Amino acid sequence: MEEDRIINPGLENEAEERIENSLRPNTLDEYIGQYKVKENMKIYIESAKKRGEPLDHCLFYGPPGLGKTTLSNIIANEMNSNIKITSGPAIEKPGDLASLLTNLSEFDVLFIDEIHRLSKSVEEILYPALEDYTLDIIIGKGPSSRSIRLELPKFTLIGATTKAGSLTTPLRDRFGIVHRLELYSIEDLTTIVKRSSGILNIKIENEAAEEIARRSRGTPRIANRLLKRVRDYAIVLGDGNINLKIAKHALNKLEIDELGLDEIDRKILDTMIVQYNGRPVGIEALAATIGEEIDTIEDIYEPYLIQIGFIARTLRGRVVLPPAYKHLGYKYIGE
Ligand code: ADE
Repeated sequence: MEEDRIINPGLENEAEERIENSLRPNTLDEYIGQYKVKENMKIYIESAKKRGEPLDHCLFYGPPGLGKTTLSNIIANEMNSNIKITSGPAIEKPGDLASLLTNLSEFDVLFIDEIHRLSKSVEEILYPALEDYTLDIIIGKGPSSRSIRLELPKFTLIGATTKAGSLTTPLRDRFGIVHRLELYSIEDLTTIVKRSSGILNIKIENEAAEEIARRSRGTPRIANRLLKRVRDYAIVLGDGNINLKIAKHALNKLEIDELGLDEIDRKILDTMIVQYNGRPVGIEALAATIGEEIDTIEDIYEPYLIQIGFIARTLRGRVVLPPAYKHLGYKYIGE
């Protein structure tokens, strides 16, 4: 069941979302990790403010749970602007986008999550809006229809996507600032776990914070979620404080291994090793064999497995690499 998977960084329910919001940093200085993005954004924000102009449109891409929404909120905050948050699938018709755009105020940030899922007709009215803050709308039908041009307030679009490759070229080309968010280091995740513990009033040992970080697959949203589950064990089995022993016990109970791999990761690797005998496998075949969506494998599982050197993408398909054999206790036979 989707909801039971702790590593799937989709938001689960309102309560989780509220807690997650309380953990979100509000300024770039509070935001841990993504140093390259931070350093660049600081300059662009300061420059835009000095020029008295809105920030250029930004595109952030990368696996889910890395802080694309958080970063967008911070940017709006640092620009002293308001942010309106929506998503590609929520904007169904050109009229939906027109109404969003005409209701913006000068310098507002419009955040569109999953921007690769905008329909073609919606995308087309976005182009002139991004380029020169105008909106072309057609009034009426047939021979008497006419097009009128509306001036829009100067705004900043921030688009987020897990699939930069699915963006059309004309849309991608209209973003002046494009950044890929990277998976976080264990060190940065440890800092995030300790920061979140402070906010949630949880006492945690350094080694325990690091253990949670190590099993969070480079993803702050997973780290924060694991922290809350480990705390449950600490409260029920101990005094509420998190030490290394209770952290390890809880994480093992959650069936998250030393590298943060869960049942589905192991199933992916096992299938590639045993059923496909280590030969390259296409994503469609792999998804069908293990009974998962292609998107789930590509967006959630694969980035981390590639990052830790367990699988690689080749022209002939995905291949499983020697460290994965070792981790699962198989002998590597080679090509
Ligand atoms: N919580 C989630 N992501 C974070 C980040 N990048 N920095 C600080 N706290 C966070």
